[in-house]
Amino acid sequence: MAVSNPARPAPGERLCALAEIADPGARGFRFRQDSALFAGVVVRRGALLAGYVDVCPHAGWPLAALDDRFLTRNGDHILCSGHGALFDLADGACVVGPCLGERLAPWPITLRGGDVFTA
Ligand code: FES
Repeated sequence: MAVSNPARPAPGERLCALAEIADPGARGFRFRQDSALFAGVVVRRGALLAGYVDVCPHAGWPLAALDDRFLTRNGDHILCSGHGALFDLADGACVVGPCLGERLAPWPITLRGGDVFTA
């Protein structure tokens, strides 16, 4: 049974303006409630905008050490800084690395009036 994270923001919370995320690029978000921590990442490339929980399925570590350094140099994949796994931007599937066949957990987001919100 999945345990809900009290730090995870409710749907409808504004995260940032779309313009604050590079194209291609990504931005990480962290939320804390008491001792609980929720980390998510929003990735952007052209018309693609997707959110994922910032936890690598391999070892459970955060994907990046810095809040805007989630993508490979060419912006084609999400890179885990732990052991170098690469993830598809559109569906979070691991395409190279030790967690091949697994995927990042989705973090639903939506774009409204030029701003990114949790969904
Ligand atoms: S923790 Fe991400 S590849 Fe190992």
